[in-house]
Amino acid sequence: MNAPVPPFDPMGLPLPTSILTALAYLTLTLHFVAMQFTVGSALLLLFSWRRQPGVARFLGNGLPLGFSYLVTFGIPPLLFVQVIWGQFFYSSSVLIGAYWISVIPLIIAGYGAAYWHRLSRDARPKYQLVLVAVSLVALLAVGYIYVNNITLSLRPERWLDHYRHHPGGGALNYGESTRFGRYGLFLVPGLFAAGLALVLRAGFLRRRGLGEEADSSQRIGLRAMLVATALQAVALLALWLTLPGAVKLAFTESRLLGGLAAGAVLLGFGALAVAWLSRARAGTGLPVLAAHLFVGAIACLVVARDLVRQIYLRPYLELSSAPVLPQWGMFVGFVLTLVVGLLFLVVMTKQTVSGMVGALGKGQGAGEPSAEVSS
Ligand code: HEM
Repeated sequence: MNAPVPPFDPMGLPLPTSILTALAYLTLTLHFVAMQFTVGSALLLLFSWRRQPGVARFLGNGLPLGFSYLVTFGIPPLLFVQVIWGQFFYSSSVLIGAYWISVIPLIIAGYGAAYWHRLSRDARPKYQLVLVAVSLVALLAVGYIYVNNITLSLRPERWLDHYRHHPGGGALNYGESTRFGRYGLFLVPGLFAAGLALVLRAGFLRRRGLGEEADSSQRIGLRAMLVATALQAVALLALWLTLPGAVKLAFTESRLLGGLAAGAVLLGFGALAVAWLSRARAGTGLPVLAAHLFVGAIACLVVARDLVRQIYLRPYLELSSAPVLPQWGMFVGFVLTLVVGLLFLVVMTKQTVSGMVGALGKGQGAGEPSAEVSS
């Protein structure tokens, strides 16, 4: 095949592929969930800023937090994709280099705008829509660049032609028909995730006797989840219509791929149904269950996405035949750091939630109804 694919790293893989891919799936799922929550929060914040100040406040608190999680959870899968698929991922990154490097200033701008919004919203309410819009545009742009990079990494046969026409790295993966469906598939669940967060907030508020605010949170949350479900169906269809025949065939012939696709759909609908059942109920039990189902759906998507990559790249690399030179010491170090990091996360989350409860007792703060709501 006429494709300039660099040779596999002579150092080999530092761990068996099963362990590397399992860790990549776990961390990429966390990245996707955080990224989707952040994108959806920015979008719903724009819509609710004037009409629902309590909801807007809650989402405004979540925006910088989500940003920090999406970046932190993006780094481990970035390391894994470079280790496992480095020949492809580095090559496509260089080919769209001008765009790829712009991801860094875009993230800084988006993250900065999110923080700026949170810190200045009370003092300068006038410019807040601009700040949130900057954050949203930066998020959407980064996601689009990622989709272009990943789809180009799957098409080594296009690299020479791409380089011939755009040697300066100033072109995205033009002509790739799966880009838009794929973009929708990964970003539309953002609306679902942010809607679910509002449903969760509603259960929490209702338990504390704040029924009116809970109702509006629930209403917006469920609407967002319904709209996301409809849009996701459109994205899926758009992707299906543009996928290469071999990939489509794999979905119908491979039980694993078909099962993952069905699993993602069922878990997604399950999350929607459970969130719907939580209407008018106090407490967070059902919304938390819905959140777990949603994460399960995203995990199915992540695994299916990687199996599809393996189908695309089979002519260039069979992962099972990649050389492995294990470095167990490093693995133990990674797992220990991961466990400590996750424990830290649990402690921090508990502290944030108890801070919210405390602030609620005083009638404001941490995304709960504030002076803005009652006025
Ligand atoms: C700031 C906003 C971000 C958005 C909206 C975003 C969105 C996305 C999307 C849509 C994909 C899937 C692309 C595809 O498969 O076609 C993706 C993949 C990925 N993202 Fe992010 N991302 C963001 C930031 C980051 C950051 C900061 C990192 C790393 C520090 C990161 C690491 C990754 C990795 C490693 C993958 C793909 C891994 C693989 O192919 O196995 N992302 N991201």
